[in-house]
Amino acid sequence: MQPLAELVDTNIMIEPKSRTPSGIGLGSILVTGAGGEMGHALLAQLAALHGGKREIVAMDLKELSADRKAHLQTSYIGDISDPRLVEAIAANHDISEIWHLAALLSTRGERSPELAMQVNVMGSANMLRLAADSATRRQSPVKFLFPSTVAIYGVPSLEAKRAAGVVTEDECLQPITMYGVNKRAVEELGRYYSRHYRLLAADRMDCTVDFRAIRFPGIISADTVPTGGTSDYGPEMLHAAAQGKAYECFVRSDARIPFMTMPDAVRSLIELAAAPRESLTQLVYNVTAFAPSAEEIAAKVREHFPNAAITYVPTPERQQIVDSWPEDLDDSAARRDWGWKPAHDFSAAFATYLIPSIRARYGA
Ligand code: SER
Repeated sequence: MQPLAELVDTNIMIEPKSRTPSGIGLGSILVTGAGGEMGHALLAQLAALHGGKREIVAMDLKELSADRKAHLQTSYIGDISDPRLVEAIAANHDISEIWHLAALLSTRGERSPELAMQVNVMGSANMLRLAADSATRRQSPVKFLFPSTVAIYGVPSLEAKRAAGVVTEDECLQPITMYGVNKRAVEELGRYYSRHYRLLAADRMDCTVDFRAIRFPGIISADTVPTGGTSDYGPEMLHAAAQGKAYECFVRSDARIPFMTMPDAVRSLIELAAAPRESLTQLVYNVTAFAPSAEEIAAKVREHFPNAAITYVPTPERQQIVDSWPEDLDDSAARRDWGWKPAHDFSAAFATYLIPSIRARYGA
């Protein structure tokens, strides 16, 4: 067995340690998947909001880059489905908030379904258990932020997709990918831990895990390119054009799913985390910003990079996944309950965020 010391990479420990078994104190924030796309954008913002007041602990499969570590006190290298790592974190930190970002996305998950289930479900179960144990010790609910996905929806055919149009949180819940099934399972586990955990126990707490989830559409970032997702054609065609590379899109030109920008996605999680519990009428919320076809994205890319060479070479398997996801999401509950509103519509996303940042990045 690998010694724990080899799993742990301590940057600067906060002294004295913030562990407070009595339930007083703000406790530490744990971010899983901190090396991923969303982690990249989120860490800086969490540090800006809480830096100096709360310990921020991160974990990822790979060692984090120095710029990410700069936002943290401690980072752990390891697999979230490894109970030893989770136990080490529980023993070393007084966790009061978990941002559980680690997951294998939809295309990767279809290539290794059992691995996806191990990471996406068992890893999440470990995190929920950590949250519940920590809440019991602190005698105070532990906040659990969970990015869910448009992939939890499943429509059986293109005709059904067009007929369904904009879907609410309760419709079309028959995902066809392992990733979608996994995320849906964790939404349900979150509901259990939040409302019914140890329901027969005499000493049970009313709310152990304060579970809050957002079902994200495809996300487009100017700073990073996703890996292993099926909505990747959106960001990939933009990043290719900015680098003067030709792009073969793996879905048809008329494929349509919702998207949003990374800054909006991160802000939505931060706003949901900050919302008073009493104003939240559900545990899981849709958010969305715009719902272009692949060709509408390509046309927007060409507006800014007229030499962009984008062709369509649909891959039947990935096309089938995109065809099973709804054309758009109804996010009226998020707007009503916690004031959600995207800053970037389709045009603003490109004009004020993606294009200026991506030009600066690639010198395009
Ligand atoms: N971006 C994800 C994927 O493509 C969907 O949530 O798998």
